[in-house]
Amino acid sequence: MKIAIVGATGEVGRMMIRNLVELEAPVTELDLYASKRSAGSTLYYMDHALKVMELNSAAWDKNYDYVLFSAGSGVAKMQAPEALKACKLVIDNSSAFRKDADIPLVVPEINGSLLKGYNGIVANPNCSTIQMALPLAVLDKLFGLKKVVVSTYQSVSGSGHKGLETLKAQRSGSEDLGDYPAMIDLNLIPQIGAWLDDGYCTEEEKMHSETCKILANDKIQVCATTVRVPVMYGHSESVYAEFEQKVDLELAEKEMSRAPGISYCANTYTTPLDLGSSNESHVSRLRHGGYEHSLVFWNVANNIRLGAATNAVKIMLKHAGYEA
Ligand SMILES: NC(=O)c1ccc[n+]([C@@H]2O[C@H](COP(=O)([O-])OP(=O)(O)OC[C@H]3O[C@@H](n4cnc5c(N)ncnc54)[C@H](OP(=O)(O)O)[C@@H]3O)[C@@H](O)[C@H]2O)c1
Repeated sequence: MKIAIVGATGEVGRMMIRNLVELEAPVTELDLYASKRSAGSTLYYMDHALKVMELNSAAWDKNYDYVLFSAGSGVAKMQAPEALKACKLVIDNSSAFRKDADIPLVVPEINGSLLKGYNGIVANPNCSTIQMALPLAVLDKLFGLKKVVVSTYQSVSGSGHKGLETLKAQRSGSEDLGDYPAMIDLNLIPQIGAWLDDGYCTEEEKMHSETCKILANDKIQVCATTVRVPVMYGHSESVYAEFEQKVDLELAEKEMSRAPGISYCANTYTTPLDLGSSNESHVSRLRHGGYEHSLVFWNVANNIRLGAATNAVKIMLKHAGYEA
């Protein structure tokens, strides 16, 4: 496979390179692109030293099998359609194309069948949505999902490299807010993204629209409160879900235990620090939600892996006919 990664020097781009190795992608050629700032720097794929190149339209004079974008919406909007000159499938991590009706929004374990015979741009969902959609898809099949109320506890790496640097600097005494609206060290911020007219912020809106699109059901209500917390890696979520049918807790546990992409823990719970290099959505504390048509659970995943890089690499492998 001839692959290009755009945004290779970022938190997600670097993880994509690691995931190519870990998920045993049959890479024959790998080109790495970033902005002018880090052009010329070196990154490693296995023991191969690769020079990062500045992204410009000359990149698309080459031929690739897959191009993975992880450089924000602005770059994606400008360059992803151009990149289709060089390859059949572009996988984009940003929000640029997620709402486009013609562009599939894919979590391979849920709706990977959309990739069959598809060429073009594929959108990778938002990190907080991917980890929640995996268990919700299992429960939806069993009981018919109607409504979700979720509160998130999202790590600073979700804001990219700059988020990590801001928290580290504040822990050393800096009062520089970085891109955050308030101090994040020893604090938490109940706003991720810009405010919308209806009182929600953009991250909350994404959790609603993307969950509906992935589960192919516009009627699901998703009411999210997204919160940035001073954790380096790993997003946590407290999820309350309501269903058409009465819930059978034992059946839910059984199906959750065997669902691909999910690590189900019946007797204890997962914290962000427990995640290590797990690529899975960790579900624990599954219990009734106060009446017989509802469930509550605790959900934790690595936002850089499952929430971004791993899902993108799995999309690529699935499209190419490999199961990751
Ligand atoms: N972090 C997460 O948890 C997460 C989860 C899901 C989705 N995403 C999405 O993934 C994307 C990357 O996020 P990240 O966390 O990896 O951010 P990041 O650490 O800030 O990295 C951004 C990357 O984009 C590159 N870039 C910026 N401007 C560019 C340009 N004009 N041309 C080419 N490359 C450019 C940067 O290159 P330089 O080194 O040259 O600056 C860097 O490689 C974003 O769209 C983000 O919304 C992130």
